[in-house]
Amino acid sequence: MNKTISAFISGIGSEVPATVITNEDLAQLVDTSDEWIRSRTGIQARRQASPELAASDLATIAGQRALETAGINADELGAIIVATSTPDMVFPSTGCVIQKNLQATNAFAYDLSDACSGFLFALSNGSQYVESGMCQHVLVIGVDLMTRITDFQDRNTCVLFGDGAGAVVISGSKETGGVLGTQLGTDGRFGEILQVPAGGSRMPLTEENFSERKQFIHMNGSEVFKLAVRSMEQAALQLLDHTGVSLKDIDWLVPHQANKRIIETLGKRLQIPGERVFMNLQHYGNMSAASIPVALDEAWRKGLILPDQLILMLAFGGGLTWGASLAKWSLPPQS
Ligand code: UT7
Repeated sequence: MNKTISAFISGIGSEVPATVITNEDLAQLVDTSDEWIRSRTGIQARRQASPELAASDLATIAGQRALETAGINADELGAIIVATSTPDMVFPSTGCVIQKNLQATNAFAYDLSDACSGFLFALSNGSQYVESGMCQHVLVIGVDLMTRITDFQDRNTCVLFGDGAGAVVISGSKETGGVLGTQLGTDGRFGEILQVPAGGSRMPLTEENFSERKQFIHMNGSEVFKLAVRSMEQAALQLLDHTGVSLKDIDWLVPHQANKRIIETLGKRLQIPGERVFMNLQHYGNMSAASIPVALDEAWRKGLILPDQLILMLAFGGGLTWGASLAKWSLPPQS
C-alpha cells in the first residue's frame, strides 16, 4: 500500500519494578524447581510491582522515557492508547490516568485489552491515526501487572508471569518506512483455554468465586502452546506476503516473550536463525502486553537493533488473539 504519511517509531521507553522473584523463591511456594522452570520455559526470574504501584505508575514512567527519546512534549500527543489486562480500575481508563500524569492535555486516551497481543493491536490503532493524518504523535503503551492476577498456589501458571511496561511514540512522516504493515487475528471459540474467569459482569467477585480462586489466570498450557506457534507462524507468513518482504530480509524477530520453546519453535519454522531472535524472558517472564515493547526497548538500548533494520514482531494471547507487525527501525543508536 502506498501511504502519503508513514507511522515511524520515533521514541521508546520501558520500566520494570525493582523486586525480583527467582525460580528458587517460587520453589518455596509451590511444588516446582529451578530446573523444571528453566528447561520448560527458559524463565529464570520475573519482576513484581510493590503493592502501592498500579499499572499507570509503571506506564507513566515508560511513557515519559518514550517522549524523551522522541524529543517531544506530552502536550504534542494526539492520542494515548494503552494495552492492558490489568488496568488500575474498571474506570477511568488507565489511559486517562496516564494522560493526567503526563499532562498530555491535547490527547484523547483509551485502553484496549486483547491480553498478550494487546500491544500489536494498539500499535495498529496508533499507526492508523498517524497515517490518516488524524494525529501527528501517538503514545502506544503495553503494561501489565500480571502478578496481581497470578495464583501463587498454582504451579502451572505462577512460574510464568511478571510485571512491566513498555511504550513507543508513533509519529507521522512523509518519508517511507516505519510501521510497514500489521496482521491481526482472533478466535473467540478458544477463549476458555486462557482466561481470568471472575471480576467482570459474567462472574462478579464474590466470596465464593474468591474461594475458588477464579480471580486468577486459568490456562491449559499445552493447548495454548500449540495454538500460539501455529497462529504466530501463519500471521507472520500472511504479513510478509502482503508487504512483499521476504523472511531472509528480516533483521530481528522480536516475539512475545512467553516461553523459550515457543520462540525457538517459531524461529525454526520461519527459518530465522537464533542470533536474529531477541529474547529477554529469562529476566522478566511473560509480561503480557508489555513484553514486546520492553523487548524492543532493551534490544535498541543494547545497540542490537539499528536504523533501517526490519523488525518482525509476533504476539499471541488469551481471547484467543494474535498479531504480526513489521517495522523499519528509525531510531539512531544510543550514544
Ligand atoms: O502469553 C500467553 C500465552 N501463554 C503461553 O504462551 C504459555 C504457553 N504454554 C506454555 O508455555 C507451556 O505449556 C507451560 C510452560 C505452561 C507448560 O509446559 P508443558 O511442557 O506444556 O507442560 P504440561 O502443561 O504438559 O505439564 C507437564 C507436567 C505436568 O505433570 P504430569 O501431569 O505430566 O505429571 C504438570 O503438572 O509438568 C507439570 N508441571 C510442573 N512441574 C513442575 C506444570 N507446571 C509445573 C511446574 N513445576 N511449575
